[in-house]
Amino acid sequence: KTVAAMVKEIHDAMGITVPVALHLDHGSYEGAKAAIEAGFTSVMFDGSHYAFEENLEKSKEMIALAHSKGLSIECEVGGIGGEEDGVISAGELADPQECKTIADLGVDFLAAGIGNIHGKYPANWAGLNFDRLEEIQNVTNGKPLVLHGGSGIPREQVQKAITLGVSKVNVNTECQLVFAEATRKYIEAGKDQEGKGYDPRKLLKPGADAITALCKEMMENFFGSAGKAE
Ligand code: 13P
Repeated sequence: KTVAAMVKEIHDAMGITVPVALHLDHGSYEGAKAAIEAGFTSVMFDGSHYAFEENLEKSKEMIALAHSKGLSIECEVGGIGGEEDGVISAGELADPQECKTIADLGVDFLAAGIGNIHGKYPANWAGLNFDRLEEIQNVTNGKPLVLHGGSGIPREQVQKAITLGVSKVNVNTECQLVFAEATRKYIEAGKDQEGKGYDPRKLLKPGADAITALCKEMMENFFGSAGKAE
């Protein structure tokens, strides 16, 4: 059974009425291929750590492979810094010509640095670079852009980026933080020691509910994406 078939079963069993994508984030060359084979419905190939020519060749191969299976694919140009790589770096700015070259391969979404960083933002962060965002949008003919490092960017900056062509915002750290906070509260209140409160289904529920509530709030009041699935 493929992963896609299992996702469809869960989708039907839970009565979900909107399309759900099972997406691999920051896939390596081997990892993205394995996810495509396994039946993911969407993959990201992150070749940004290769020299540009190699990223280009590998992205081209991965786009053809994903499209031959009817999947959507995201590729990355330049690097998006942050603590995901173990080092906190300044937000990089992607080269618009490189963005155009990868966009012209027919990629579905493009992840390109516009000053964004994964993880927590340093106090002296310069903010998103809207001039670079506009330049990338113009040279790529309006290719849908992905804003990585969505946690902790001031809301008005994200909303402006959406009006300028960002169509997917990746938020991870904020979800992890609300999960940890709710789980800590549960344990500090001694609930894991009441009855069967140590059951992982109970212990992990407040954290999972906190992530759900945060996502709902963001979709409704922040991204404006609620009710727009097709
Ligand atoms: P944050 O953890 O900074 O929200 O970044 C998430 C992300 O971009 C995953 O690809």
